[in-house]
Formats: sequence, structure tokens, C-alpha cells
Amino acid sequence: MSSEIALVTGASKGIGRSVAKKLAEAGLPVFATARNISELQSLQKEIEDRSGTCVFYPAELTNETQLDLLVKEILKSDTKISLLVHSAGKAKVGSVGKMAVSEWQKTMDINLTAPFMLTQKSIPLLGEGSHIFFVNSVAGYQTFSEWSAYCASKWGLRALADTLRQELAPRGIKVTSIYPSSVDTKMQDQIPYDWDRGKMLKPDDVAEALVNCYQQPAHVQIKEIYLENLAGTF
Ligand SMILES: NC(=O)c1ccc[n+]([C@@H]2O[C@H](COP(=O)([O-])OP(=O)(O)OC[C@H]3O[C@@H](n4cnc5c(N)ncnc54)[C@H](OP(=O)(O)O)[C@@H]3O)[C@@H](O)[C@H]2O)c1
Repeated sequence: MSSEIALVTGASKGIGRSVAKKLAEAGLPVFATARNISELQSLQKEIEDRSGTCVFYPAELTNETQLDLLVKEILKSDTKISLLVHSAGKAKVGSVGKMAVSEWQKTMDINLTAPFMLTQKSIPLLGEGSHIFFVNSVAGYQTFSEWSAYCASKWGLRALADTLRQELAPRGIKVTSIYPSSVDTKMQDQIPYDWDRGKMLKPDDVAEALVNCYQQPAHVQIKEIYLENLAGTF
């Protein structure tokens, strides 16, 4: 008989890592992916030390061949995906006049095309009652000067999620987008602004919201979650 897993991308760090830990605490076996093997190993240890279950598979998610191998690995264990969380992503800032096309493309590749490809390959493994989460951003419904690539990728991700919801509803599959304002993670190290990290959301805030949403009754679909720190949006 097949078992069920939560497939979490971006699980080595930040929001994805918190989500993986909270889902494991809630009793779901976690299948974690990201590129950094030692961080995935330490996640597995943290989860297993608390009696949870975690397997991991390192992958460069923008590489279609690696995605095929990842899905093959899941298939090997006769496993269904009951929860798919897309958290992997990157932020690159720069004005339209100055951003290299290669940086624009890399942002699109990981923030938009990778979730599209992984979702497409996962659809056959998603049963009735399963749930797909897209970790989007405040940049998925607003625009900010110097954030064109990030905003465009997240607006696209919103469109992908909304389309997918219409396509998968007849199969009883839920789709939720989460739109957090700034979260205090390593992603902030790559952003050249002096924002007050103490006033940002924490990765656990996003993970709690996601797990609460996942635990709603089967007939309830929460389509979107908007999260910000009461101190304001950064
Ligand atoms: N931090 C914020 O302020 C904020 C706010 C709103 C939304 N978000 C969104 O939240 C999500 C998670 O961000 P975070 O703040 O948790 O960032 P983070 O701490 O930098 O984590 C990013 C994760 O994505 C993985 N990743 C990045 N590029 C990858 C690639 N090419 N292939 C495979 N994995 C890759 C990283 O793993 P490896 O490096 O190990 O590959 C890491 O696990 C992103 O989609 C981001 O846009 C963040």
C-alpha cells in the first residue's frame, strides 16, 4: 500500500525549513529538497531527533533532468504526495536599466519555471484531498522600484497558482498561495537595504499559517493567505 508524504522545496533554509519541521511535528513524513546537502542532513537530524520522519533528495530545481530524478525517487518508494510546498526561491534587485538578462532569467527559472515544472511532474502523484502551496510574496500583488524580476516572477506564480486551482478543483486538489511581507531569513543577506530585521515576520510565522491552512476540514479551501508584521510591510 502506498504511503503519503509532504514534498517541500527550499527545505534547507528559511521558510521551507520551518515548514518542513512543522509538518513533521504535525505527523507528516517529509520529503525535503534543496541544493545544500549538509543543511538537508541537519534538517533530517533535527526532525528525527523529535521522532519525525524526513528523507531528502538534493536537486537543482531549475534543471529538468534533476526534477525527473527527484520524482523518480518518490515513485521508487510507492509514495503519494499529499502536500506539495513550493518555497525555493531567490531575490535579485536591480533597476530595469541595469539588471543583466541572465539575472532576470535566473530569477524566473527558480521562482516561476521550477514550480511549474515540479507541479507538472507531481500531478500524477497527487491524490484526491491533496494540497499544493506556493510561497509567494507581497511582491506577487504589488510592485516595488528595483524589484522588476522578483515581482514579475511572483505575479507569474500567482497566475500559475490561480490557473492550477481551476484545473485541479475537479480532482479535489486544493491550491493555496501565501503572500508574506519581509521574513527574517538568509534571503535578506542578498538584499542591499538596511531594513530592521527585528520587525520582520519569522519563518515560523509563515510555517504556522501554512500548517493551519492544511489542517482545515476537507471541504474548506483557503485560496490565499496574506501575512504581514503588525509593525508594517518592508
Ligand atoms: N524572506 C523574505 O522576506 C520573503 C518574503 C516573502 C516571500 N518569500 C519567499 O519565500 C520563499 C523562501 O524564501 P526564504 O526567505 O526562506 O529564503 P532562503 O532562506 O534564502 O531559502 C531559499 C531556499 O530556496 C532554495 N533554493 C534556492 N535556489 C534554488 C535552486 N536553484 N534549486 C534548489 N533550491 C533552491 C535554497 O536552498 P539551497 O541554497 O540549499 O539550494 C533555500 O532552501 C521564496 O520563494 C521567497 O521568494 C521570502
